[in-house]
Amino acid sequence: MKIVILDTYEQMCNLASDVICKIVSEEKRPVLGLATGSTALGVYDAMVAQYEKGLSFASVSTVNLDEYAGLDASHPQSYAYYMDKQLFSRIDVNKANTHLPCGVAKDLTKECARYDKLLSKLPRDVQLLGLGSDGHVAFNEPGSPFDCRTRVVELTEQTIRDNSRLFDKLEDVPRFAISMGIADIMAAKKIVLLANGSNKAQAVAAMVNGEISESCPASVLRRHSDATIILDKAAASLLN
Ligand code: GLP
Repeated sequence: MKIVILDTYEQMCNLASDVICKIVSEEKRPVLGLATGSTALGVYDAMVAQYEKGLSFASVSTVNLDEYAGLDASHPQSYAYYMDKQLFSRIDVNKANTHLPCGVAKDLTKECARYDKLLSKLPRDVQLLGLGSDGHVAFNEPGSPFDCRTRVVELTEQTIRDNSRLFDKLEDVPRFAISMGIADIMAAKKIVLLANGSNKAQAVAAMVNGEISESCPASVLRRHSDATIILDKAAASLLN
């Protein structure tokens, strides 16, 4: 696991974007694993800036980590809506080649199986990740088995609280989501995780210095051969 500590959020996002854009320019059919959340916003702005300078995303396919159960793509808090607004509508990616789990599928279990099949057809060159304050990656909450694949998950109270800032009220936050599994995340060739701010410091310390254990899902990234963790000083403040 490589750790990079930078001064500003902008520098963090530029570095993550550079890694992703290099893959986009070098690979014939690049596959990007994308993430949602506040942390990823600046990465998408930096990628859009590269597009505006001439980088084409026309040959790119994307797969996202997760989606809330019960929210469709027209709901402003759905991850499908977020991706369209923050990235897909701002670059020349072919929308047909962008994929998220469908949170309103009739049979969510079947939807998980469909998504895993899709992931096996689209091996990711890179997977972008944020970090939950409880150490989750995607919506793999503490206790998620390291060998899990895409499945329906129940969100912890802490995650519901953290994510409630984006909803009108706490009760509006979905209790369940579809999440790519930890084994799916680990299958990406390269992993880039970003965490900034002091509210992530404990999770960062557990991920980097704690035991590799299912109680901190992100700690599994230490077993990946090409994982880069990009932090600001506040997020790195509890590291040994
Ligand atoms: C959310 C998402 C994750 C995201 C993480 C951090 O719950 N499911 O994919 O990376 O938590 O979010 P944020 O960047 O808003 O802190």
